[in-house]
Amino acid sequence: LDACPPILAIDGPAGAGKSTVTRQAAAALGLLYLDTGAMYRAATWWLMTAKVNLGDPIAVAETISQCRIEFVPQSQPGLAPKVFINGQDITQAIRAPAVTAHVSQVAAQPAVRKILVKQQQLLGQNGGVAAEGRDIGTHVFPQAGLKIFLTASVEERAKRRWQELQAQGNPDISLAQLQADISQRDYADQHRAYAPFRPAPDAIEIVTDQLSIEAVIAEIIRLYQVRFSVP
Ligand code: DC
Repeated sequence: LDACPPILAIDGPAGAGKSTVTRQAAAALGLLYLDTGAMYRAATWWLMTAKVNLGDPIAVAETISQCRIEFVPQSQPGLAPKVFINGQDITQAIRAPAVTAHVSQVAAQPAVRKILVKQQQLLGQNGGVAAEGRDIGTHVFPQAGLKIFLTASVEERAKRRWQELQAQGNPDISLAQLQADISQRDYADQHRAYAPFRPAPDAIEIVTDQLSIEAVIAEIIRLYQVRFSVP
């Protein structure tokens, strides 16, 4: 058997386009797509549903350690995998604004990160994954063959999120509110005491403000193919 292909790590803030880009690049390069943000969201959803006090690190850790998070790939390529926790389909639920509002608080807890990072490393132990998150290149897979730091200005990220919400029929949220929420979440993720969010020193930065999603995907596929001489 051939060795598994090298790991592709894609880190960046919310709204930079990570999910679409990582999913499509994974499909094109034959890698397993791993959405680590979905794991922090799943954990947060479970804690909130179980009414665990998010400010109690011991109760939080105990609850998370009993959780089984699973990804089920969809038959149609390019579709996001379904997310399950303890057998329950929470694909939609983890995108709810209430989960988004609390996920930074959960993701800041060292015990939570240790448990989820270990699960992520297990999924990538033989290589062959394209993982997206905030700490993939720095903590989860520091040995990744190619590290991308995908970013965009707060204004651009808020605009994209606003358009997405409009398209989904949520016209109530203002652009200014979204910009404030994104800035606040960026700040919380970058300033937590344990494993703060920052680019790996050896990551290639791609600023997506002026780029189409197709151009970003093509560039990452190209970088990976050039680096690993993939035909
Ligand atoms: O990418 P996302 O919006 O689904 O991520 C949800 C939250 O989880 C975000 O506030 C940052 C956190 N997160 C993290 O701390 N580490 C990761 N590897 C992925 C996400």
